[in-house]
Amino acid sequence: MTTVKLNDNRDFPVPGVGTLFAKSDEGEQLVKDAIDIGYRHFDTAAVYQNEKEVGAGIKAKIAEGVVKREDIFLTSKLWNTKHKRELVVDACKKTLSDLGLEYLDLYLIHWPLAFKDSAELWPKDSNGKLLLANDDYVETWKGMEECVKLGLTKSIGISNFNTQQIKRVLDVATIKPAVNQIECHPYLNQSKLIAFCKERGIVVTAYSPLGSPNSIAMADTPAPLKDPKLQEIAKKYKKSAAQIILRYLIQHGTVPIPKSSNKNRLKENFDIFDFELSPADVAAIDALDRNVRICGFTDGKGDKNYPFDIEY
Ligand code: A2P
Repeated sequence: MTTVKLNDNRDFPVPGVGTLFAKSDEGEQLVKDAIDIGYRHFDTAAVYQNEKEVGAGIKAKIAEGVVKREDIFLTSKLWNTKHKRELVVDACKKTLSDLGLEYLDLYLIHWPLAFKDSAELWPKDSNGKLLLANDDYVETWKGMEECVKLGLTKSIGISNFNTQQIKRVLDVATIKPAVNQIECHPYLNQSKLIAFCKERGIVVTAYSPLGSPNSIAMADTPAPLKDPKLQEIAKKYKKSAAQIILRYLIQHGTVPIPKSSNKNRLKENFDIFDFELSPADVAAIDALDRNVRICGFTDGKGDKNYPFDIEY
């Protein structure tokens, strides 16, 4: 199992499996298939509404004796409605109860953006406008640290944070964020943000690593998987474009979490350790960068906590 070290000395398996849009039976089957293939790292979130299925998949494989809980690295995320410091521990406990597990390996603040505390995931006013809140993620971070102290999670981190936001967290942190999970693929290669995180000992998890080819947001956008240069490189290495992208992200030190509900594609996405891209090919893929952002969260634009109003 290939791993990278987190700043709290824990091993973070590479690659992981993303589970967004995997619900009901699909989520459980995906996790079971992935464990059989050899994956040990899973990524979910309260907002994905599939924690029960992800937990069920892990528990089924523990019951079968295929893995032990400590073999699995499980990440989940605090949703934006629970940013008030006093809500964080209970939100984490709810996640654990939905998963049916005793602890998380990594708990992330999903977005720096805060929503009004609500039973709804997407609280809106009578005009359908999203209800953002002023809560400062620096206070949220203190709640995250309490989750570690209570043994609810081993590590904590952030997601979708820009450099200014990371600096503010580092200024108050008694436990440093282990990870920043960000959108990262050849069309948004995040080289500057990755370098910034690396200098501070924060590992980058790459979400939407394949450019989320089937998402609605990508319908009118060029897809990295179809990029002619990537296709050409894929041919040369006798690998698929997806494998080239994952290998590229790993060679840049990130931990990609491709999602697939298809066992063959799960296998394909794991079969990436028998080749290495040459520096020239890495540079050729670097040159494809074109600021294509799939998860732009435009509803939050202009908010003081919005992460994408500055370059990185
Ligand atoms: P499927 O679940 O049918 O395999 P991302 O992780 O960037 O968000 O991309 C996930 C999307 O990419 C899913 O829709 C998934 O579809 C598809 N996908 C996953 N692995 C591959 C692959 N190796 N080749 C092509 N498409 C893939």
